[in-house]
Amino acid sequence: MSPAPALTVNEVSKVFTDTQVPTVALKDASLEVAEGEFICLLGRSGCGKSTLLSMIAGLASPTSGAIDTHGNRVGMMFQDANLFPWLTVRGNIELALRLSGIPKPEWDGRVQDLLAMVELPDAGQKRPHQLSGGMRQRVSLARALAQECRILLMDEPFASLDALTRDTLHEEIARVWAQRGLTIVFVTHNVREAARLADRVVIMSPSPGRIVDEVPIGLPRPRRLEQPEVAAASGKLRELLDHYDLKAA
Ligand SMILES: Nc1ncnc2c1ncn2[C@@H]1O[C@H](COP(=O)(O)OP(=O)(O)OP(=O)(O)O)[C@@H](O)[C@H]1O
Ligand SMILES: [Mg+2]
Repeated sequence: MSPAPALTVNEVSKVFTDTQVPTVALKDASLEVAEGEFICLLGRSGCGKSTLLSMIAGLASPTSGAIDTHGNRVGMMFQDANLFPWLTVRGNIELALRLSGIPKPEWDGRVQDLLAMVELPDAGQKRPHQLSGGMRQRVSLARALAQECRILLMDEPFASLDALTRDTLHEEIARVWAQRGLTIVFVTHNVREAARLADRVVIMSPSPGRIVDEVPIGLPRPRRLEQPEVAAASGKLRELLDHYDLKAA
């Protein structure tokens, strides 16, 4: 039996009319993501990745079509950690616990568990400016997990990090995903990142933004960036991206 869908995107379009000429940011996108699946949305700048993600998160509504998250709670991580600078790491996570309705007596234990999960067990009293970029993204992950989300949306969360830190965070996100049985939709324009992380890569193309193809990545886990199989898969993804970009041009 195939796993239940965690997310269904049905013929979704988004047109922005706040510009001089209306922009079709996304046209007729359809996608089904299974429970526990890790998918990457891959495409060049402007192909509607963030627009689709923000509609899945409920931050914007489709112009037409429908999105169903099947009752799953949705969490989001962005390129910037977006932590509240005046709160400690603990305070930032507690705020998410409060907003999720977790009873206060449970907060202490949960904060410790979450910080252990993102490998920052001693960072609770620090403020965001005292952390490195990679650490801040870990706290941002802990905060998303504090919301008890079943679907985690990630919009280029590691794009501003150096390659070594990004590599470590790839390992961590793959571990957290497996441990928690999360469903992840991860946006990237980096073919290697997609080949390393995803069960399935959904390829998008601009003008207008649309889903043009998808590629299953059947490689066993754990995967390493320098594996020849990962390099081969990312080469194939790049070829596909170039192919669809030429078609769109
Ligand atoms: N609020 C808005 N008003 C008008 N146009 C918008 C708005 N948000 C996005 N767009 C347009 O919609 C299109 C898709 O934008 P989107 O941010 O989804 O792309 P993206 O794939 O995430 O790109 P990037 O990789 O650069 O982040 C672009 O042409 C963008 O200019
Ligand atoms: Mg974007």
